[in-house]
Amino acid sequence: MDFKRYIENNQERFISELFELLRIPSISANSNHDKDTRAAAELLISHFQNLGLDECEICETKGHPIVYGEKIINKNLPTVLVYGHYDVQPVDPIELWDQDPFKPYIKKTLIHPEGAIFSRGACDDKGQMFMHLKALETVMTQDQMPCNVKFMIEGEEEVGSDNLEIFVKENKSKLSNDIVLVSDTGMIDKNTPSITTGLRGLSYMEIELTGPNRDLHSGHYGGTVANPINMISKIISSLHNSKNQITIPGFYDDVVEISESERSESRKIPFDLKDFKKSIKINSVHGEDGFSTSERQSIRPALDVNGIWGGYSGEGAKTVLPSKAYAKISMRLVPNQNWKKISSLFSDHINNICPKGVTIKIKEHHGGQPYIAPTNTVGFRAASKAYEEVFNKLPFATKDGGSIPIIALFEKELNSKTILMGFGLDSDAIHSPNEHYGISNFLMGIETISRFYYHFTDLSTNPQIH
Ligand code: BES
Ligand code: MN
Ligand code: MN
Repeated sequence: MDFKRYIENNQERFISELFELLRIPSISANSNHDKDTRAAAELLISHFQNLGLDECEICETKGHPIVYGEKIINKNLPTVLVYGHYDVQPVDPIELWDQDPFKPYIKKTLIHPEGAIFSRGACDDKGQMFMHLKALETVMTQDQMPCNVKFMIEGEEEVGSDNLEIFVKENKSKLSNDIVLVSDTGMIDKNTPSITTGLRGLSYMEIELTGPNRDLHSGHYGGTVANPINMISKIISSLHNSKNQITIPGFYDDVVEISESERSESRKIPFDLKDFKKSIKINSVHGEDGFSTSERQSIRPALDVNGIWGGYSGEGAKTVLPSKAYAKISMRLVPNQNWKKISSLFSDHINNICPKGVTIKIKEHHGGQPYIAPTNTVGFRAASKAYEEVFNKLPFATKDGGSIPIIALFEKELNSKTILMGFGLDSDAIHSPNEHYGISNFLMGIETISRFYYHFTDLSTNPQIH
């Protein structure tokens, strides 16, 4: 079984098939694209059928459908559940894209001299999810599957996976597995593989402040009325203290403190502060006292305003004292923090500090629990071996700052751990204009996944010899 050769011989077709998927603007957040989102699900199901998967089904939900297929070759062999998402983030600001986000093209970059695929979803997550289809093809045409696989690809990850949560709870036995395998995270750099063993949780809130019943003349009324934008700014700036700690009472109560030995272990993971600053053109980092940038990004929680609006922001000057002000605020959570508890601590606190003269409405958007995985498992060891064979290096175990809400739910409902085999790079600009994905990351990912199936089966069925 020469996977590498098969992948090389077929890479042009793999890429052109991925392009077909990338051309579909499956933006889950925007209902104008509901048809496109469905079209992406239909294209995937045709791939599942061509691969010879059984039980192929477009599973309807209250929102976008879930695509399912499986290959059970022997009930006594281990089963891998592959999860990914075919939905993508909105594209705005569209004017900052060099080309149409849904007309994929290949361009060489400094980091990807062999070329990268530019398109919304190239890395997050169509490109990474598609590696799993091509790995399955590679294994099935070169050899035979060493284990059982189940594929479950959803269309609502970027909007919180609420309907997938229902689906998982209702289909526990259908989805039963020995390990979940996901490629929807990143690696350290092109030559330094890593397995993500931690994801932050998320609580996403929106606040609306109302002052006077209409926009007012800011001269006639200015200085006499609580201005909702002034007030929302005050509220927001009070949410961090001078040490950049979050001031919501009880916010840190459940945070697991990381031991000194674990902290020093994680210092071995390559991280260059200069490169970090350079890559996003900032002259200084910012964050909670007493923690390094990579710690602030992984093992510590964070609170950020994602958007703030109200009043007049058009051309020129309009002298107005606005009636309303709004802000969207997200909190990234770490192990043991519970997103529902944090959301209600947030609401209680904001209600408590709401200044006189304005009223407040708080809306809870989606959320998700943080996730943490041990490294002394069969799954982790199998993945390490697969990476070592492809990259000639053992992968680091890293904790990532991003969130994939459903991963913690897999643990709770299906009792399974997840291996997060991500091949994206920080520079791939996911969620941003000109998102891209390196062709070599794509091809090496396919090979690593193919090899994982063998090691996982081997280590699961013969634990004593390893
Ligand atoms: N694939 C990302 C999550 C991710 C990216 C994790 C990079 C680690 C490294 C996922 O699609 C995503 O964007 N998640 C959202 C949460 C979701 C509920 C909108 C996030 O983290 O903001
Ligand atoms: Mn993703
Ligand atoms: Mn995403």
